[in-house]
Amino acid sequence: ERLPALLAAMPKAELHIHIEGSLEPELIFALAQRNGVALPYTDVEELRRAYAFTNLQSFLDIYYAGASVLLQPQDFYDMAWAYLQRAAADHVVRAEIFFDPQTHTARGVAMETVIDGLSRACRDARQLGVDAELILCFLRHLSEEEAFATLEQALPFRDRFIGVGLDSSELGHPPEKFTRVFDACRRHGLHLVAHAGEEGPPAYVWSALDVLKVERIDHGVQSTKDPALMKRLAQDGIPLTVCPLSNLKLCVFPQLEQHNLRELLDAGLVATVNSDDPAYFGGYMNANFLQTFAATGLDAHHAYRLARNSFEGSFAEPAARRRYV
Ligand code: HPA
Ligand code: ZN
Repeated sequence: ERLPALLAAMPKAELHIHIEGSLEPELIFALAQRNGVALPYTDVEELRRAYAFTNLQSFLDIYYAGASVLLQPQDFYDMAWAYLQRAAADHVVRAEIFFDPQTHTARGVAMETVIDGLSRACRDARQLGVDAELILCFLRHLSEEEAFATLEQALPFRDRFIGVGLDSSELGHPPEKFTRVFDACRRHGLHLVAHAGEEGPPAYVWSALDVLKVERIDHGVQSTKDPALMKRLAQDGIPLTVCPLSNLKLCVFPQLEQHNLRELLDAGLVATVNSDDPAYFGGYMNANFLQTFAATGLDAHHAYRLARNSFEGSFAEPAARRRYV
């Protein structure tokens, strides 16, 4: 078969990967031992068996628990380096990596510890042929005030991340909650993105665009419910960072066959394929491409479009983008 080979080998950008979601069970246990952290699971198999999710929240509870083993800069480095090696193997040449500092600062880990380990791994990724950058995410279930405090803590390291995002529990936490924080981030020249329309309604995608003024929408798959929104996304060329295996595992779609990626592409949207939290959802970039294409019957033209969309949707400089392809 030529299509799987094309999907695997084509250069691509990953625009939606939470680095804490790349923490494999084996590394969770290794770090727990290294740091003397007790886990509520006896072994890797028991932990993996807990990865049976019914919605976003059921995943987030386990995802935050897994991150509790991260304490030292080297822990953050090792986690990011493991991801970057997997990314390089999947011919990812550009990665824009989310991290959740509040998951760590809430446990007494310093912002500097988090950013130091992650940014060193991103710098070293050049050796792997991966151009990697960081995007700081605010946890939307926490307050605006806590987001502002997080921004203050991160500003001394302003040159080590390129933008900010918004993640965690979507329902009940609309983008508007963070209007003033995103205004401040815009004044600092940061790129702006937000998760919207994963489980939440099209209204959240509208407010991410019109109130937060984000440049990309993470997920956005609920947009197909609103024809006016689809038109807006197409006209403004707003990239959607779609994560098919994540949507399957979190029951956003009952089966991959029912995923609306093709509908998004056919409507002319700048849709991309991404892994979200690959250690939890059962696949890195190429697994997302291969399984989604097999399930939905997308073809080589779609493959080319998705690769091109990933670079078009990235925050890489135009000169760098030409080098990737
Ligand atoms: N949605 C919201 N928050 C997240 C996700 C997601 O898919 N992954 C990690 N944090
Ligand atoms: Zn995500």
